[in-house]
Amino acid sequence: MLSQTAMLKLPRTVFLIPAALLAQSAAAPDYAFFKERVQPIFLKKRPGHARCVTCHDHGSPPLQPLAAGATEWTDEQSRKNFEIWKLFIKPGDPAKSALLRHPLAEDAGGDRFHAGGKHWKSQDDPEWRTLAAWVNGEKLNGEKLKGEKLKGEKLSQ
Ligand code: HEC
Repeated sequence: MLSQTAMLKLPRTVFLIPAALLAQSAAAPDYAFFKERVQPIFLKKRPGHARCVTCHDHGSPPLQPLAAGATEWTDEQSRKNFEIWKLFIKPGDPAKSALLRHPLAEDAGGDRFHAGGKHWKSQDDPEWRTLAAWVNGEKLNGEKLKGEKLKGEKLSQ
């Protein structure tokens, strides 16, 4: 373990990320959009399927277990969900994001098998489109990060 003095001496420059690099990368996934639009999908019951949370509150990737009687996650729990689930997407690229491919039917562009079932038959499903919007960096007000060009889209002025 580092002693306190050693930690104080760590160079600050380590934390600087070159601006050019940031500008080129895809839009970062938005937390508020995740909390308000993506998490309800994890909680919803779809006919013929268990809810995502039913399995994933004790499986991988993990969702925080809901408190007894709670119908949604607290802000603190949502943050934890966000930090984990954003590792299962590729920002700006829904087609390469496990979150979008795993529960999507294989003939609609999904991968071969998800132990939790195929919850969406098509990429036109509104829930799937919501997840794709999150992966593309959409914010709650419909805005995307300024200056970002998304796949298949033209920048609007
Ligand atoms: C019946 C239980 C069950 C349900 C319901 C379920 N899952 Fe899963 N899920 C699993 C299990 C088990 C795994 C790990 C084995 C596998 O990948 O199939 C998994 C894996 C995953 C993965 C990881 C993929 C990877 O690359 O490692 C993602 C993402 C995922 N599920 C998303 C979802 C979403 C989103 C929902 C709801 C739409 C959902 N799951 C519903 C059981 C479930």
